[in-house]
Amino acid sequence: MSPFTKLLTLSGVRISAARAARRQYSSLTAELIENMDKKATWDRFYTESSSSTNTFKHFEWFFGFDAVRDFIMPLLQTKPHPDGLLQVLDMGCGTSALGPCIYRHSPLPVRVTCADISPIAVRLMREQVQTKAIQPHNLSSRLEFIELDCTQLHEHYGCSSVDLIVDKGTTDALLRSKEGKWKANQVLKQCLMVLRSSGSLLQFSDEDPDARLLWLETEAQEPGVMAADVGVQEVGELRGMTYYCYQVTPRSIV
Ligand SMILES: C[S@@+](CC[C@H](N)C(=O)[O-])C[C@H]1O[C@@H](n2cnc3c(N)ncnc32)[C@H](O)[C@@H]1O
Repeated sequence: MSPFTKLLTLSGVRISAARAARRQYSSLTAELIENMDKKATWDRFYTESSSSTNTFKHFEWFFGFDAVRDFIMPLLQTKPHPDGLLQVLDMGCGTSALGPCIYRHSPLPVRVTCADISPIAVRLMREQVQTKAIQPHNLSSRLEFIELDCTQLHEHYGCSSVDLIVDKGTTDALLRSKEGKWKANQVLKQCLMVLRSSGSLLQFSDEDPDARLLWLETEAQEPGVMAADVGVQEVGELRGMTYYCYQVTPRSIV
């Protein structure tokens, strides 16, 4: 299924009978097909999807938190470092409820940072949590939304400071874009730099393991600089597509 078809199915957006709306929609999807690495594309996407309705609705790429909670929550069971909260990053969060759900359900104290290159998505999420206060399981937990280009994670995080990075569809979006491949490589390198040695990056994706594992195993190694272990598990099948969870864990360099 193409990203275009998937977008139609997953966003729940109905193609209206109105020709004008259809024309506007198809121009946006055409932009998305090739330019999912561009800030302007996503600004337009979140602006148009939020203006089509008066009530805020989370947009979920592929699926929501419930489909992946069993991959995420077991990784948040080791006690935080003496310096405080477990650091969790939802990378390219969009307007997904994934980050807020982790914040809500984690028994251990977490700081969940939801980061996106689109200031529109970040604003929508900030407004949403302001109007609908979420109670965390652990009262010390924190939730924040920041505008950040994830090819530049070092601008926000120090080396070895993050416990878990979740990426639902962001690397897929970069890898599928005409000019996004180098950005995907850069994002992966930045993740490995900011992750603690005990930390993990989880990529939720529909890309076949033959292609994704090869890419991860190639790009996550740089002799003398970085190395990582890579694994894959099936998330399941949804609307005829198989989805995967790729887990990348930094390996210390000898
Ligand atoms: C396919 S959407 C997935 C959104 C969300 N994770 C979800 O599950 O619904 C990809 C997201 O990545 C964001 N994005 C694209 N390039 C980015 C970058 N360089 N840094 C941060 N976010 C980026 C887009 O704005 C978009 O929200």
